[in-house]
Amino acid sequence: MSAPNIETIVNLAKRRGFVFPSSEIYGGLGSAWDYGPLGVELSNNVKRSWWRAMVYERDDIEGIDSSIILNRMVWKYSGHEDTFSDPLVDCRECKTRLRADKLEYEQSGAIKVEDAIKQKLLRCPNCGSTDLTEPRPFNLMFRTHVGATAEDDESALVYLRPETAQGIFINFLNVLTTSRRKLPFGIAQIGKSFRNEVTPGNFIFRTREFEQMEMEYFVRPGEDEPIHQEWIENCHNWFLSLGISPDNLRLYEQPKEELAHYAKRTVDIQYRFFPEREDAEKQWDELMGIANRTDFDLKAHSKKPENEEGKRLNPDSTDDLSYFDEATKERFYPYVIEPAAGVNRTVLAVLMDAYSEKSNDKGEKRVILKLHPELAPIKAAILPLAKNKPEIVGMAKAIKRSLQPVLRAVYDDTGGIGKLYARQDEIGTPFCVTVDHQSLEDEAVTVRDRDTWEQERVKVSDLQEHLRKRLQVSGVGCQ
Ligand code: GAP
Repeated sequence: MSAPNIETIVNLAKRRGFVFPSSEIYGGLGSAWDYGPLGVELSNNVKRSWWRAMVYERDDIEGIDSSIILNRMVWKYSGHEDTFSDPLVDCRECKTRLRADKLEYEQSGAIKVEDAIKQKLLRCPNCGSTDLTEPRPFNLMFRTHVGATAEDDESALVYLRPETAQGIFINFLNVLTTSRRKLPFGIAQIGKSFRNEVTPGNFIFRTREFEQMEMEYFVRPGEDEPIHQEWIENCHNWFLSLGISPDNLRLYEQPKEELAHYAKRTVDIQYRFFPEREDAEKQWDELMGIANRTDFDLKAHSKKPENEEGKRLNPDSTDDLSYFDEATKERFYPYVIEPAAGVNRTVLAVLMDAYSEKSNDKGEKRVILKLHPELAPIKAAILPLAKNKPEIVGMAKAIKRSLQPVLRAVYDDTGGIGKLYARQDEIGTPFCVTVDHQSLEDEAVTVRDRDTWEQERVKVSDLQEHLRKRLQVSGVGCQ
């Protein structure tokens, strides 16, 4: 079967309660989406898997959860106030706002965007006009104010964070000293980030509010390059461990001119998000970036910001974020290797990759979501074969209750068994457990496998262990 396009996933996601258009009853809000009952489970399972791979299964990484709204100075010294912008152009004809860098990439190759606009080489993709304004920088950070101040009171201006990374850098010394770490070590964080994207779209691929899973790995300068390479491989392996096909993942080395202001080298892990596009190159887009940020951020935050009278902003705080190596008696700023992934893009990639179709013996098409068991929102559905038989219903409900402390199980009796199986296949439930008349006699149930549709008879007393083994996940991953 050919790979599904995003539209197929949008339909499935809405129909089955993974993701809904946000604020729909008020006409929606641009490209904002809400996670429904199954979506929140899937997204939590993605985050849990990442946290386990980063924090629990290693000896050298700590986790934190920093504030979304930080002191404005953080974004001044990180460089975001000056440089975190997209070049914006307007179409004078239809008034559409466009990202000039995307137009250049898609329509005019190597020529500079200003020249391309002057020479009328760029076309508005909406109306085809070449009458476009000069590009101007548009800062992507959302602005707001703290406290009960007037809207235009600049002294109260703050931003919603556009990346979780800075919350880690400003806590570098706190974590270093409280956890008594030595280089190399890392700090991980999962949380919401906000960017006022000019052209959001493609479902949850690009939104203005999204979640990131970031880790800053601090290393001795000079040791950065091989460790960067190791993290590229680790991250690639993590996506494979989620069951994503290697054919749909590739590494992309960012050319020098694409690098962010802080990066020495960045390699993206791309996913084939757009298989329907004719141009093979445009089928791929970023799932995660793994950057070598050098000592840019720790140095930037060590600039000791001063107020207008020339006084240190916080004279009591140690704001020199350098590291002292006890063994060699050297003081220096560590380099940082940063694997940064999007939760939402990972959710989209696993949904696209798991989507498959199969015909049943009547020739009817069935959707099967072959999610990795660790990611599946529901691990087992307990289904009574006859919902009008109280003993069967009672037994099925008791089985569900006995399983729920160790794995996510649901009970469903809202249709015939064929329909119930199809429903669970479509949402990726690895096992259906059917309670029938025979179960009342032999204390056994039928366990049906989502991918093969094979069934086997299992004693109720062995069921929990049987499912745990077949799910092949630890206690953490089962829930
Ligand atoms: N701290 C580095 C950083 O933020 P990034 O490449 O801008 O790097 C990391 O973001 C990841 O966050 C991306 O690879 C992508 O998965 C996700 N991401 C970034 N912008 C996004 C958006 N507008 N919508 C959804 N995900 C986004």
